[in-house]
Amino acid sequence: MPDRRPLIAANWKMHKTRAEAGEFLDDFLPKAGGLAGVDIAICPPFTALATVSEGCEGSEVLVAAQNVHAEDSGAFTGEVSPPMLVEIGAWGAIVGHSERRHVFGETDDDLARKVPATLGAGLVPILCVGETEAERDAGRTEEVVRRQLEADLASVPPDALGGIVIAYEPVWAIGTGRTATVEQAGEAIAFTRSVVGEIDAGAAQAVRILYGGSVKPANASELLMVEGIDGALVGGASLDPGEFLAICEAVDRGPT
Ligand code: PGA
Repeated sequence: MPDRRPLIAANWKMHKTRAEAGEFLDDFLPKAGGLAGVDIAICPPFTALATVSEGCEGSEVLVAAQNVHAEDSGAFTGEVSPPMLVEIGAWGAIVGHSERRHVFGETDDDLARKVPATLGAGLVPILCVGETEAERDAGRTEEVVRRQLEADLASVPPDALGGIVIAYEPVWAIGTGRTATVEQAGEAIAFTRSVVGEIDAGAAQAVRILYGGSVKPANASELLMVEGIDGALVGGASLDPGEFLAICEAVDRGPT
């Protein structure tokens, strides 16, 4: 069995000022120090990246952005580039979150550029994929996830594929309190891994695939025990240090 280290990532979305981010870390970091068997990443808004990056120095907690542009610099008002994130101490960046796709019109063509650009700068992309409720109801879940993966990963060299993180997030489960069942999550994640395997068999064993969509302390253990699920991307429940800690504890394998 491949030894994929679990990862729990906090997607704060457009929440928390720098002061609030600092308060979170004051509460969370001393308690998270004991979690040796799980990688933890916090994805704050751009304005709090430096605060979280500096605050996490000396801890094992990783910092990631919620979005990134594909170019290193240029006339792209409002955007932030991969080297800018590296400079601020970021470990990775979420790319293709469903809110970016559905609210801001981000396309698979955009993501086909963003994923390799992120990797090229030395950052870990957390690529989000997932179907809408209408797509699931129409029986199109696998078609949609396949299309997203094949398009978004098209320009990633196969030997780099194992180093990315993929988050399967059914759009209908995000922020709704409706979680995918263990069977739905397990099936979609196994399918996601099989699509990566069609590109590169070794990468399919190495790539970490997270579940996202209304993960809470109450459902984390059940979801994260599912074979092939390597962790979670957590929105709402990551805003509270106690709730987020409880989710990290649910997957912590302890010292190795
Ligand atoms: P949620 O968000 O946990 O609030 O459903 C997950 C996400 O959007 O990544």
